[in-house]
Amino acid sequence: MEKWFGNCLKQWYNKHKRDLPWRHETDPYKIWLSEIILQQTQVARGMSYYLAFTKSYPNVLKLANASEDEVLKLWQGLGYYSRARNLHETAKKIAYELKGNFPSTFNDIRLLKGIGDYTASAIASFAFNLPFAVLDGNVFRLLSRLFGINLPIDSELSKKKFQKLANSLLNKKEPGLHNQAIMEFGSQFCIPKNPDCNSCIFKNKCYALSHQKVAEFPVKKKKIKKQTRFFNYFIIIDKQGNILINKRQNKDIWKGLYEFLLIETKNDFSSIELLETQSFKALFKTKPTILFISKVYKHVLTHQNLYTRFYIIKCSRMSKNNNLKTPLKNIQKWAFPKLIENFMRDIDIDAIINK
Ligand code: ADE
Repeated sequence: MEKWFGNCLKQWYNKHKRDLPWRHETDPYKIWLSEIILQQTQVARGMSYYLAFTKSYPNVLKLANASEDEVLKLWQGLGYYSRARNLHETAKKIAYELKGNFPSTFNDIRLLKGIGDYTASAIASFAFNLPFAVLDGNVFRLLSRLFGINLPIDSELSKKKFQKLANSLLNKKEPGLHNQAIMEFGSQFCIPKNPDCNSCIFKNKCYALSHQKVAEFPVKKKKIKKQTRFFNYFIIIDKQGNILINKRQNKDIWKGLYEFLLIETKNDFSSIELLETQSFKALFKTKPTILFISKVYKHVLTHQNLYTRFYIIKCSRMSKNNNLKTPLKNIQKWAFPKLIENFMRDIDIDAIINK
C-alpha cells in the first residue's frame, strides 16, 4: 500500500469533509438508497430525495410493500428512472426472498439488480468495512492526473487497470473512510475545471500538474452520438374534465412513467401537416377543437435530444383504447418524465380549458 496517499487523504478528509446524513449510517439499506440516488445525481440535488425516501420507507420492507407507481412518484424529477424500478425490485427480493437480510459480502451485493462494481464496493466498505476500493468518475479523474494514466476511462481494459491501482492504494484498515475520502477529494477538490492545484495536498506528486496537463486528464475515447426525436403530446379533455394518459411499457428510461397521448414523427412536422395524419384523427370519435399549441420544448438526455410540442384539445368523445382515463385535477397523482413536468409547470392547462 502507498501509505503516503491514504494518510494525506485521510488528513484532508477529516478537515474538509461535508456532513452528509448517509455518512453517519451503517445500515446497508440506507447506504444502498443513498448510493443509488447519487449514481447520476449531485449531492445537493439528491439530498431531499434521500430524506424523502428514508422518511417514507425507513426500512427495506416498507419499500418492498410500496407500489411501483408510488416509488416512481417519489423519484419524479430525479431522472434515470430505471434506478427507481431496480431499487423497488431489489427491495422486494431482499424483503421476501432474503427474509429482510441485506447481503453482507461483496459478491452477494454485486448480484443485486441495479448494483455494479462501484455501488457494491461502496456498500461493502461503508456498511461492512470490507476492503473494496471504489472507482467512480471522481476517482478516475484524480488517479489519472496524479499518476499520469492516459488510458481511456471508458474502456473495460483500462477500468481493470485503474481498479488495480485503486485497490493498491486502499487503506485496508479503514476502507469505508478511505473510500468516502477519495470520492470527496475528487468531487470537491480535484474538480474537472480549474482545480486549485497550488493548494493541493498532492501538488508535489502530481504528474499532470508537473507536466502542465491537468486539463488533459482523464482521457476518453467515445464521443456519444446523439439521436434526434420529435414528440407531439396531446392533452385531450372531454366534457367531464377527464383526460387520457398512458403508462409507458417500452423498455426505455421512461418505462413505468405516465405520459399524454404521443405521436412521434420522423421529422419536425408542422402542426398543420400533423393534424391531417391518420394517427391524429384516430384519437377522436367526434370533431376535436384545438385550444392551444405550445412552443417546441427541447429536452436533452444522454443519448437523445427530444423536440416536443404539446397540444391541448377539447373533444366530447375520444378513443380510449388502452389508455387510462383520469380527471385532470388528479394529474399530480402520477409520475411523469421531467419533460412533461416542465410543460405542466409552465402552462396552466385548467386555465386554457376554461377560458
Ligand atoms: N456520491 C456518490 N456516493 C457518495 C457519497 N457516499 N458521498 C458523497 N458523494 C457521493
